Amino acid sequence: MRILARMDDNICTISVDTSGELLHRRGFKEAVVKAPMRENLAALFLRQCGYTGREPVYDPMCGSGTFVIEAAEMAAGLFPGRSRRFAFELLAGFDAEAWEKIRAVPPLPIASVTFSGSDRDAGAVRASQANARRAGVEAVTAFEQKSVADITPPEGPPGLVIVNPPYGGRIGNLKALYGVYHALGQSLRERFSGWRVGLITSEDKLARATRLPFGAPSRPVDHGGIKVRLYQVRIGG
Ligand SMILES: C[S@@+](CC[C@H](N)C(=O)[O-])C[C@H]1O[C@@H](n2cnc3c(N)ncnc32)[C@H](O)[C@@H]1O
Repeated sequence: MRILARMDDNICTISVDTSGELLHRRGFKEAVVKAPMRENLAALFLRQCGYTGREPVYDPMCGSGTFVIEAAEMAAGLFPGRSRRFAFELLAGFDAEAWEKIRAVPPLPIASVTFSGSDRDAGAVRASQANARRAGVEAVTAFEQKSVADITPPEGPPGLVIVNPPYGGRIGNLKALYGVYHALGQSLRERFSGWRVGLITSEDKLARATRLPFGAPSRPVDHGGIKVRLYQVRIGG
């Protein structure tokens, strides 16, 4: 167990770390690609987009599948972190039986809603499929290899496109990325009428390169040392 003592202005606060491993580690994302989104941030951005688990979700740059898997888990009422261990399991008063009962809650049926992702990188598609399998949401998720220039909406009613394209600071160089953001914006404007879009990026000018009429971005959120913001818009409305 990790016990922490914090000294501030003559006051000592003692606390016990009941989490252990970092909380964004849900236990299923063994396969990762470059610059993965943290699961707890993915959940935050989905919630900020008003996602309640009752509409389709599509990520056209899915990387290791974080948004798609997180959305499917939320829709199925699957508890985050259900397949990992927590430090509180080591506490003397830990009730293993009660904890097992909580963890064993069966998933809710998901009626005709799809959770899908695509990526131009074949390795990313394989990683997403493997992660979805480990998370137990394979049956309601679908991934395919595709560039953003070629994306089309999944069949069914419109829903939420959520995407974090590469940012200049982490992968790719900024100039080369303008074309990628532009192609993404063009595909969304032309083919995704009725869909809501949530785009996460660190660069305002990259968001503007999509030519999507975003409202004011969210407050910045720290993502691995980079400040990112959520940009939102509804296509065709
Ligand atoms: C920042 S990562 C996304 C990370 C993802 N959200 C995750 O949690 O793993 C950006 C992804 O965009 C993909 N990408 C870059 N250019 C693309 C393009 N033109 N079309 C489709 N995917 C592209 C990359 O292969 C990479 O997986």
